[in-house]
Amino acid sequence: MKVKVIIPASGSGERFGGKTPKQFLKIDGKEIIAHTLEKFNSISLIDEIIISTQLEYFVKLSTIIKKYNLKKVKKITEGGKLRQDSVYNALINLECDRDDLILVHDAVRPFISNKKIIELVKAAGKEKCVILGLPVNETIKRVDKNNIVTETLDRNNVWAIQTPQAFQYSILLNAFEKAMSENFIGTDEAAIVENAGIDVKVMEGEKRNIKITVKGDVRL
Ligand code: CTP
Ligand code: MG
Repeated sequence: MKVKVIIPASGSGERFGGKTPKQFLKIDGKEIIAHTLEKFNSISLIDEIIISTQLEYFVKLSTIIKKYNLKKVKKITEGGKLRQDSVYNALINLECDRDDLILVHDAVRPFISNKKIIELVKAAGKEKCVILGLPVNETIKRVDKNNIVTETLDRNNVWAIQTPQAFQYSILLNAFEKAMSENFIGTDEAAIVENAGIDVKVMEGEKRNIKITVKGDVRL
């Protein structure tokens, strides 16, 4: 069984703003995507990494890969309009066996720990589909279009979901093909697998594993 990682890095960072997509901005002198890739590259359980990004960033990304000697990055594929398209394009460009594990991780979550990645891989080896999340502390309410509360959810069974998410290759590929044929759109890979009727297990993630979304997130 091999473990392969898909890094979607084809977003334009609308909420973050600025010209350069946030994954290519530097924190402590190093591109955010380089921080992220170094984590996965350094874990011996991981065999291969594939990244989806915009064509215009292929050269910049290749330079980063060389500079930080990220030997496990084997391919760069073109991203798509939606995150889902970016992940799918990477997925169909991977050569895998049925039982291989695929991890999908946002380029803009550089703070995940190696320990947590290894825990996830081990859990997914047994459970097949495992994702990370945190139990929600705040009270969660549903509102209507006028912001009037329509429902207070039971927060005891509500989790805020993160990446990496891990899946057995054949399950993920079949679920993606089903989603694409039905025009089903999921905001994470788990939603695509759930749509195929497969159980997905949630494991406790890490508070530090934030997704850099707006300018203030970089201060961390
Ligand atoms: N992503 C991608 N392809 C897309 C959209 C997003 O590969 N068409 C990637 C982003 O590069 C990022 C991850 O998915 O690594 C999470 O997305 P998000 O934080 O939403 O980033 P952006 O889409 O770039 O930001 P925004 O939604 O504010 O535009
Ligand atoms: Mg986005």
